[in-house]
Amino acid sequence: MSAETKIIEHTYDVIVVGAGGAGLRATLGMAEKNLKTACLSKVFPTRSHTVAAQGGISAALGNMGEDDWRFHMYDTVKGSDWLGDQDAIEYMCRNAKEAVIELEHYGVPFSRTADGKIYQRAFGGMTTHYGKGQAQRTCAAADKTGHAILQTLYQQALKNNAEFFVEYIVLDLIMQDGECRGVLAWCLDDGSLHLFKAHVTVLATGGYGRSYFSCTSAHTVTGDGNAMVLRAGLPLQDMEFIQFHPTGIYGSGCLITEGVRGEGGYLTNSEGERFMERYAPSAKDLASRDVVSRAMTVEIQEGRGVGKNKDHIYLHIEHLDPALIHERLPGIAETSKIFAGVDVTKQPIPVLPTVHYNMGGIPTNYKAEVVTLDGENPDKVVPGLMAIGEAACVSVHGANRLGSNSLLDLVVFGRSAAIRCAELIKPNTPQKPLAADACDAALARFNNIRNANGSLSISEVRLAMQKTMQSKAAVYRTQSTLDEGIHAMTDIQQSFADIGVKDKSLIWNTDLVEALELDNLLSQAVVAINAAGNRQESRGGHAREDFPDRDDANWLKHTLTWFNGGEVKIDYRPVHLYTLTDEVDVIPPKKRVY
Ligand code: FUM
Repeated sequence: MSAETKIIEHTYDVIVVGAGGAGLRATLGMAEKNLKTACLSKVFPTRSHTVAAQGGISAALGNMGEDDWRFHMYDTVKGSDWLGDQDAIEYMCRNAKEAVIELEHYGVPFSRTADGKIYQRAFGGMTTHYGKGQAQRTCAAADKTGHAILQTLYQQALKNNAEFFVEYIVLDLIMQDGECRGVLAWCLDDGSLHLFKAHVTVLATGGYGRSYFSCTSAHTVTGDGNAMVLRAGLPLQDMEFIQFHPTGIYGSGCLITEGVRGEGGYLTNSEGERFMERYAPSAKDLASRDVVSRAMTVEIQEGRGVGKNKDHIYLHIEHLDPALIHERLPGIAETSKIFAGVDVTKQPIPVLPTVHYNMGGIPTNYKAEVVTLDGENPDKVVPGLMAIGEAACVSVHGANRLGSNSLLDLVVFGRSAAIRCAELIKPNTPQKPLAADACDAALARFNNIRNANGSLSISEVRLAMQKTMQSKAAVYRTQSTLDEGIHAMTDIQQSFADIGVKDKSLIWNTDLVEALELDNLLSQAVVAINAAGNRQESRGGHAREDFPDRDDANWLKHTLTWFNGGEVKIDYRPVHLYTLTDEVDVIPPKKRVY
């Protein structure tokens, strides 16, 4: 492919990259506001990873008992271990009810109470009266809530004339004079290259779970947007905070929803003990995920794991009524049968903490605009660029996300991106000209990787990265394991220069797709493990054995990491310890009580 490569041009008001819950909600919102919108996705929209979200979406509807968005806000700030931005958390929790009712009206088939209201279940860390009671706040469509939301949003987006470009791999952002002007993409179906120009590009590209060996994420979860942001010379935020879900199926990593514990399930060790009572006497099995994952790890490390190698834990629902399991948890019954050979009505499910979610990502404000540090200004908006969903770090989850706050984050900030775009863009306004060489850097990277003839296979480099992240940036971390990991990841990232891509074609070249995705994962793994080595405290999902306490005096701040020319640079942004209105007080850091 030469410098004269044919590139097909498209012009839109807005381009959304990614068609998961956040991407589809944004696409729908833009289309409803008559903005000419294209959604680009590397998979068919309803195959996006949101389809795997099980337990539900949080909102203080109060259908199953008293609730209030302020209780939800308190839980989210506390769950974030005070690293969450409180203005963004207020925005999310107070808009939750409207966002969920909107989903209901779009047609999401939520489970129902006897009197026809949306059914809500208990989830970890969700309380009433500021930690005093147990809330039932998580709105569920059985245990297939993500699937139900994705199908509905896709249908609504089509109805509103949004345009979809499916199986398009976005290669890079097109940046000019500090502004994002669109993206360069590769169409898998016919091998053509496309320049999509837009006033605003919205990245809804998900997390980077596949940088780990055992994760609940689909193979496609490679954080492509995050990596594009790094290549554009912009920072990622709080990458050290990686959530382990307590209940991935032992061996396969498939998710067993926290909704199982919300419906009355519980964990035991090899002595048959319900050990969570020791670690979190009040919340027990419904403590937040960081707490439960650490407790399970300690049980295993101290020899109380179950199974031949005493290396996992049992999750029980055999005591529940089979009719309840059939109605509310049919998906996990099927998954447990297939991936663990277990009949959940008779046997416990073997589980292990498994990488599930990235709290870190592209820094944004609550309007979904990407921000960066610019001299003394920690909140400088990057024109033309937005990020939403797991790709973004708003930061509503801070150091640890509460279960069911992710689906909420997707729809609230997908919606917020559309609201902001409607304020910023007059439909069909002409765009400034682009420089003739605007695509050159993106094209050069694509060609270099496509023509790589080195001796290493993609799969061996990927496996080295996944094993390193799994063992060196685990649930518990120390300076020495992290330093070993930083050293190893630097070498592994550099070894990418010696990969070979055997298939040189452009049509459905999955070898090349995997190479591009691996390149994306590597940069994120490097900045994540460097950020973890740098943060000398324990907070949320970042548990340092050598610094066991949260240290607000020194570390109540967001980490920013850049990755330029193979070098990691670290700086900080302040946490937003202020709210949007005077209807709530700032929630000050307190001692941990679970
Ligand atoms: O356990 C679950 O159903 C996962 C929910 C979430 O991550 O929000």
